[in-house]
Amino acid sequence: MINSLRGFRDLLPPESDLFTRIEAAAREVFGLYGYQELRVPTLEKKELFVKSTGDTTDIVEKEMYAFTDGGGREVAMRPEGTPGVVRAYIEHNLGQTGRNGKFFYIGSMFRAERPQAGRYREFTQIGAEHIGNPSPAADAESISMLVRLLEKAGVAGCSVVINSLGCAECRKAYREILLGYLRGRAEKLCEPCRGRIERNPLRALDCKTDGPWLAQEAPKLSLCPACETHFSATQRLLGAAGVAYQVNTSLVRGLDYYTNTVFEVRSSALGSQDAVCGGGRYDDLVKSMGGPAAPAIGWAVGVDRMAMLLKDKPAPDSAPKTFIVAASKEAGDKAFALVTAMRAAGISSDFSNFELSLKSQMRSADKSGATFALIIGEDELKAGTCAVKSLKEHGEQKTVPLPDAPSTIQQLLKASSEKPPNP
Ligand code: HAM
Repeated sequence: MINSLRGFRDLLPPESDLFTRIEAAAREVFGLYGYQELRVPTLEKKELFVKSTGDTTDIVEKEMYAFTDGGGREVAMRPEGTPGVVRAYIEHNLGQTGRNGKFFYIGSMFRAERPQAGRYREFTQIGAEHIGNPSPAADAESISMLVRLLEKAGVAGCSVVINSLGCAECRKAYREILLGYLRGRAEKLCEPCRGRIERNPLRALDCKTDGPWLAQEAPKLSLCPACETHFSATQRLLGAAGVAYQVNTSLVRGLDYYTNTVFEVRSSALGSQDAVCGGGRYDDLVKSMGGPAAPAIGWAVGVDRMAMLLKDKPAPDSAPKTFIVAASKEAGDKAFALVTAMRAAGISSDFSNFELSLKSQMRSADKSGATFALIIGEDELKAGTCAVKSLKEHGEQKTVPLPDAPSTIQQLLKASSEKPPNP
C-alpha cells in the first residue's frame, strides 16, 4: 500500500464539490470585472521565484520545492502565482497585445511548510492580477472584487485588513531607521532574523517570532506625500464601494515585491492559519523582471481555507434526477439508450450494472439519491415503454413510451419544483 505524501491530500467528495462551487463563483465574478484566465506552468525556472518572491523570504529560503532536473536545470514548483503571471505578461508582451491587463488563475501551489489544519504542501489558490494601472481605483476595485467573490461563494464573517508599505523611496528611508533600531537589539532577535537584518531588515517585521513585539515597539514607516495621497484615495474609494475594512500598520506581508497598498482577509473561524487571502500592489516588479514599467495590484485566496469555512453549508443537490434499471440483458441495451437520451435532454441520469438483479439495481437507485427510477422490465421491453417510479414520494407508478420519457421527466421535475414545500 502506497500512501500519499504528507501535506499532499486527495480531495474527496463532498469537499471536492465545494472547490468546484468556489471556482464557479470566482469565474462568474471575474467575468463581471473583465478578468481573463491565464494558465501558466506549475514548474518554472527557480530563478524566477528567487528574483520576484525574494531570496530572503521564507517561501524561497525554506519552503520551495526546488530541484535540478535531468537536464541539469534548476527548477521549482511554483509556490505562488504572481511570478508566473508577470513572466508571461513580459514574455508575451501582454501590455501591448492584451485587452486590459486583468488576469486570473486557478491552480495548485507548492510550499514545503509544516502541515497542519488549513496548511498543506500542495494547496489551491484563486488569484487575480491587474497589471498596468497605477490608480487608487484599481486598488479599490481589486479589493472590492475580492469581497464580492467571498460573498458570492457564501463565505461570511471575514475581515479585511489593509496597510500601505509606501514606495521604494519611503522604504529606503525607513530601511535605514529600522536597521539602526534592529542592530541595537540584535540580541533580542531570533537566529534567522539576526542573520538577515543586514540583507533585509524589513523581513523581521513579518517574522512569526519577532514580528509581534516589533509591531508594538519598532519605529513605524512614514509615507511620502504621494503614497499618503494614494492610500487615502484607496480608502475613500473602498468606502464608496461599501467595503468594510480596518487599517493595521503592522501588516507587512511575507513577500518582497509589495509597494503601497497591501491587504489580507482573515477569518477567526480558521484558527491559527487565519488568512483566507493576501495581496497588494507591486508597482516595481514587472520592470525589475525585465518588462516595461507597469504598476500592478493583485491577490490570491486559499481555496482550501475557503472550503473549510463552507464545510457546514448545505451543498446543492448533486444526486442524479433519474436512475435507469433493466430486468434483462436485452432490456439493458434499451436502458443504455435511454440513459443516453435522458442525458442528451439535459437530465442528469445514472445506472449501475444492467446484468445484476432488479432488486440490487433498485438498491443502487435508492443509494444514488435519484428522484425517479426508470425501469425497463420484460413487459416494458415488449411494449417499448418504461415504468417511472418516484423514489422520493409514495405514489403510483406510471408507464410511458420510451421516446416520451425525457419530456415526461422534465414535466414531473417542473411540477415538483413548483409544489409548495410540505408544512
Ligand atoms: P500569500 O499570502 O502567500 O500570497 O498566499 C495567499 C493565500 O494562499 C493565503 O492567504 C492562504 O489562504 C493561501 N495559502 C498560502 N499558503 C498556504 C498553505 N500552505 N496551505 C493552504 N493555503 C495556503 C500570495 O501567494 C501572493 N501571490 C498573493 C498576491 C497576488 N499578491 C499579489 N498578487
